[in-house]
Amino acid sequence: MNALSLSTRLGTELHGGSGPRVGGLLNAPAREALGHLARETPASSRRHVLDLDDFSCEEIARVLDVAVEMKQRLVGRAERLSALGGELVANVFYEPSTRTRVSFELAAKALGADVINFNASASSVEKGETLLDTVRTLQAMGVSTLVMRHREAGAPYLVASRLGVRVVNAGDGCHAHPTQALLDLFTIRGRFGRLAGLRVAIVGDILHSRVARSNLWGLSKVGAEVVVCGPPTLLPASPMQDRLFPWNVRLEHRLEAALEGADVVIALRLQRERQEAGLLPSVREYTTHYGITPERLRLAQPDALLMHPGPVNEGVEISADATHGPLSAIDEQVSNGVAVRMGLLYLLCADSTSAASGASR
Ligand code: CP
Repeated sequence: MNALSLSTRLGTELHGGSGPRVGGLLNAPAREALGHLARETPASSRRHVLDLDDFSCEEIARVLDVAVEMKQRLVGRAERLSALGGELVANVFYEPSTRTRVSFELAAKALGADVINFNASASSVEKGETLLDTVRTLQAMGVSTLVMRHREAGAPYLVASRLGVRVVNAGDGCHAHPTQALLDLFTIRGRFGRLAGLRVAIVGDILHSRVARSNLWGLSKVGAEVVVCGPPTLLPASPMQDRLFPWNVRLEHRLEAALEGADVVIALRLQRERQEAGLLPSVREYTTHYGITPERLRLAQPDALLMHPGPVNEGVEISADATHGPLSAIDEQVSNGVAVRMGLLYLLCADSTSAASGASR
C-alpha cells in the first residue's frame, strides 16, 4: 500500500466516526469577543481538519465567512481577541515552512491562544523519538491543538486517530494541504464575490502536489469548473485515480487550452527532484511548455487572478514579470492566510476552551 492510499484508509476510518467530536454553542468569552458573529455562527462540529474531502460547501462557506470578519479585525488592528484564551497550540513541523507556520502562529496569538513552535530537526526526534511519542509528550505539557506538517502522507491522520489532541493538517507529503486551499478559496471569493461557475486552471505537478489535491476537493465542492494541466508524467492517469481526486475535473496537456477563458490560474511549485526522478527532461523544457508569462495570461479573462502557494521558483513556473504583474494575487494569498487560519481555529477551538481546561490539562 502506498502512502497516499494509507492516508485515504486512515481518513476513512477517522471520518467513519471513530474520533471524538466537539460541538454546540460557543463559550461565553468567545461570544463576548466576537459579538454578532458568534451569535450567528455556531462552533464547528468537527474536531480535526485533515483535508477538504469531508467538508461540505456550507462548511467551507462558514469558514470563509468567519475569515472575512477576522480580516476586518486585522485590517482595523483591533485589540487581540480572547476567544482561544487557555488554549495551547503547538506548531509541529517536520518539514520547512515560512507562510504556513508563521500565519498559524499569528492567527493563534491573535485569538488569545498560547503558541509553541516545535522544530523537529532541533528536537529529540533526532535521537529517535517517534511521532506518537513526541505528540504524547506535548500533550502531557498541555497542548490541545496540533498544527502539523509532515513529509509522510497520512501522518496527521495517524495522530488524530491515536491521540486526544485536535489536529490541523499543515501539509502531509503529497497528500493534502487543506488550509492552503481554504485561503485560496477565500482569495478567489474575495475578488469575484463568488466561487460557483468560475473557471480555474491549475498548472504544474498535479500528481505530487498536496496543494492541488486539496484545492481540487475544495473547488469541486463549491461548484467551480476546474481544469488541471501539466506534462503527462505529472498528471494523474484519470481524475478518479485511487479516488484521490474528485470526479469532475478536466485533464489538459496543452497550457494554451487550459488558460483559455480562465478566471483563475493557479501555478504550482515545481520541485527539482522531479527531474532527478526522470519525470521531466529538464526544468527549462518544463518552463518552455508550462511556464506562465504575461503573454500566455492574455488567453485568460482580462481580470483573471494569478495565484501560487509559494515559494515561487521565479522564471520556472511563473516568469518574474507575471509573478509581480497586475494579475498576481500571490502576496494577497499570504496576507489572507492569517485571517483564514484565524477563522478555522476559532470555529474548531473556541467552543472547547473552557472544557479543555478541565478535560485535558
Ligand atoms: N504554501 C506553503 O505551504 O508555504 P510554506 O511551505 O512556506 O508554508
